[in-house]
Amino acid sequence: MKPRDVAAAYDQVAAAYADRFAGELAAKPLDRALLDVIAAEVRGGLVADFGCGPGHAAAYLVRRGARAVGIDLSPATIERARVAYPEVDFRVGDLAAPPLEAGSLAAAVALYAIVHLSATELPAAFTGCARTLAPGAPLLLSFHVGEKPIHRSEFLGAAVELTFHFHTTTQVTAALEQAGLEVEMRLERAPYVAVEHPSTRGYVLARRRSPA
Ligand SMILES: C[S@@+](CC[C@H](N)C(=O)[O-])C[C@H]1O[C@@H](n2cnc3c(N)ncnc32)[C@H](O)[C@@H]1O
Repeated sequence: MKPRDVAAAYDQVAAAYADRFAGELAAKPLDRALLDVIAAEVRGGLVADFGCGPGHAAAYLVRRGARAVGIDLSPATIERARVAYPEVDFRVGDLAAPPLEAGSLAAAVALYAIVHLSATELPAAFTGCARTLAPGAPLLLSFHVGEKPIHRSEFLGAAVELTFHFHTTTQVTAALEQAGLEVEMRLERAPYVAVEHPSTRGYVLARRRSPA
């Protein structure tokens, strides 16, 4: 999807999305554990939350001692996030060209942020993310595992056109490697059925290579 179409759709559902998902980490122990791993590694360093949505993951990282910057395409989403979590620096931007200095991040997370990118769009997006990581810094991704996209003309009660891309862990791993990142961990889990869409969830942790 074009970034401006994604932004326009999420502008329409910003409030509904936050109402539905901003509290979800309470019911997602694996996600909390992986965010804890990131926070423990950076020890007060700067972590970006790419495609941050309501900003709850960025705020969680701050509660765990990190400094956080949230980046999202949708201005209305960012506006709400700033009000909800003033302790996080939120910016409108595209994860494929983040408004951050090269090498400035101790870590980054991107939770379901690639859901509107097709497999062929992933390497360029990851290259943009990688540029902002310090050498050796980790990038944690989560995504819906699958092969076929789903198109919706309605989302959270709004009439919006959104294509949701599912990805295989192999595709995501290959795209990260094309972007010059080194994959350290891949895992999949069943959905938490009480709070999630019933799709298998994928997680990959990759690192920007350090100079030899
Ligand atoms: C499914 S939501 C996930 C939000 C949040 N990370 C979460 O886990 O609830 C996808 C979010 O990513 C944002 N997004 C999609 N593509 C993006 C891109 N290329 N750059 C920055 N944000 C993007 C959307 O605006 C939306 O807020």
